[in-house]
Amino acid sequence: IQEKKETIIFRLNNEALAFFKLNLRTNEARSAVKYLKERDINVEDIQFFEIGYLPKNNSLVNHLLNKGFNISDIVDAGLGTYNEEKQKLYDIFSDRIIFPIKNENNEIIGFSGRIMEADSDRPKYLNTRETKIFSKRKIAYNFSEAIKSARIKKEIIILEGYMDVISLHKNGITNTIALMGTSLSQYHVNLFKMIKGTVKMFLDGDEPGIKGNIEAAQTLISNNQKVLIVNNPTNNDPDELIKQGRKSEVEQMIAEALNPLEYIISKKWNKVDTKDFNSVEEFMKEVCSFVLKCNNQILFETSIEELENITGLSKESIIDFYKKISRNKN
Ligand code: CTP
Ligand code: MN
Ligand code: MN
Ligand code: MN
Ligand code: MN
Repeated sequence: IQEKKETIIFRLNNEALAFFKLNLRTNEARSAVKYLKERDINVEDIQFFEIGYLPKNNSLVNHLLNKGFNISDIVDAGLGTYNEEKQKLYDIFSDRIIFPIKNENNEIIGFSGRIMEADSDRPKYLNTRETKIFSKRKIAYNFSEAIKSARIKKEIIILEGYMDVISLHKNGITNTIALMGTSLSQYHVNLFKMIKGTVKMFLDGDEPGIKGNIEAAQTLISNNQKVLIVNNPTNNDPDELIKQGRKSEVEQMIAEALNPLEYIISKKWNKVDTKDFNSVEEFMKEVCSFVLKCNNQILFETSIEELENITGLSKESIIDFYKKISRNKN
């Protein structure tokens, strides 16, 4: 009988991981080891997160072929690319530090490879392309580990990058996952139901991170998930803050996470020029459309009072804003 493609890809990924881990112990991995050291990633971290390395001589695809895997399966796993003209199979992740990405059942669904030094010709990260078992919208890096402490603490912290997960983990904060980007999908909403607790959004402090936090909160609230947002007032990500010796600030930010309405108001209001009507109107539009997308009556009521207090507008005028925005959407 024919083995299912998914099963073959899982087997290929396991074989590839073993190979990446082995390669990190070779002389060729010197610059990778140096890079990991510079980022304070030690031997225990390497073991725990199963970090590896792949040199640049197509050694992985050759290894897999030697193990008896066939070309089309290696290509379908996203581990190799085939050149028809040259009739040759090439590695995809060459000369990169490799991080395995696992699903909620702790199975390896794909990989992410990071370059060791800035290079304008190569993207910083390369992830497995879409395969039968790997989809960009379904990544929750470290979930199978994080769920253990998240269930006890009744809280899971959502970060942007896996470097942030590793950094917080080694500093004792283990209930974290990374979206590997800023977008949170229905897949994540469903995973978080297993925690039966609070979701704390903690994406990077830059504009894309702020936008991601707000959109994630909309998705979570409209799915009746309790959510708080960590207000990171800096432009740095959690890993950078830790590196700067600001661990206690990070802990404090997490402990003092805001409710999403407070968060969006505080992020948007400090950019408003109160003497400029257009600027106030823009603010109102942003906050009101956020609240409408959350589709939550209590949040709606609370927002009217909060907006009265902060803008000085009357309740009637705020309700008019809401009416105007819902009209424009239809
Ligand atoms: N990412 C990606 N491809 C890119 C850039 C980012 O897949 N070209 C994903 C990665 O999973 C990364 C996450 O988005 O972990 C967050 O991106 P970013 O904040 O730019 O990276 P960091 O995690 O901060 O990476 P590092 O600290 O190594 O620079
Ligand atoms: Mn970022
Ligand atoms: Mn980052
Ligand atoms: Mn970073
Ligand atoms: Mn009032």
